[in-house]
Amino acid sequence: SARKPIIAIDGPAGAGKSTVARRVAAELGLLYLDTGAMYRAVTWLVQQSGVEISDEAAIAELVSQSEIELVQGDVDAGGTAPHALMPSRLHSSTPAPLTVLINGQDVTREIRTPQVSAQVSAIAAQGEVRRALVKQQKEYGRRGGVVMDGRDIGTQVFPDAELKIFLTASVQERARRRQLDLKEQGQPEVSLETLERAIFERDQKDSSRKISPLRKADDAIELVTDDLTIEAVVEKIICLYRDRLSSGL
Ligand code: CDP
Ligand code: CDP
Repeated sequence: SARKPIIAIDGPAGAGKSTVARRVAAELGLLYLDTGAMYRAVTWLVQQSGVEISDEAAIAELVSQSEIELVQGDVDAGGTAPHALMPSRLHSSTPAPLTVLINGQDVTREIRTPQVSAQVSAIAAQGEVRRALVKQQKEYGRRGGVVMDGRDIGTQVFPDAELKIFLTASVQERARRRQLDLKEQGQPEVSLETLERAIFERDQKDSSRKISPLRKADDAIELVTDDLTIEAVVEKIICLYRDRLSSGL
């Protein structure tokens, strides 16, 4: 086909998908697209609007009337929508920030709160929500040249991606990483036990839902990252990608 390659990165919460995907994209001059951010943006909107999270019809209606945008770079600094031009920082190894807009409002920070994290899996399990977001994700990747991370990228969104990675780590390690993240962001401390429970519950919901549950695609390469640095994981994925390209895929 005429489209450029796609790298799909799936896995459970806190496995390092977004950190790694962002860096791989920067190193290879590809666009990075965080599909979890889209489900989070919908969740934030639902919470703002006061619609019950169990009211699937009302949520479907809300989604159909809303516009979600993932923008590479700072919006104020003239960032570029992924469906428009490629970012100006091509082949720079400094990852560009990703701004998340819903109905024109910048919610990049708001979508990372524990309140959003606690409800996002329930909303991501709804058929109409997934249908709308998957459609948009396919459109974003239509011309290829993207690294996309999520739960169903290799299985549903781009089942023919040139490279599929399934990134995992133990619940304990993922909770430890989240705790460090919170500390670095100057957030109040949360116990490891609480974080482990939250991560475990989200994994359960994401893996057991009826529509597009989290699972490793048959042809995905699984990387268990407990004992790997971010750099090692990025390096590994870039090697796998180069091997795929040179073997003619
Ligand atoms: O970064 P973190 O692992 O916390 O999660 P995320 O990637 O931001 O995704 C948040 C939630 O969105 C997940 O727990 C899933 O419920 C949902 N999601 C999904 O269902 N499908 C995707 N492709 C991406 C995220
Ligand atoms: O997107 P996802 O929820 O899968 O994970 P993330 O938010 O990218 O990463 C969670 C944390 O793990 C970040 O603070 C990373 O710096 C850290 N980390 C990692 O991503 N990979 C490693 N091999 C080691 C640590």
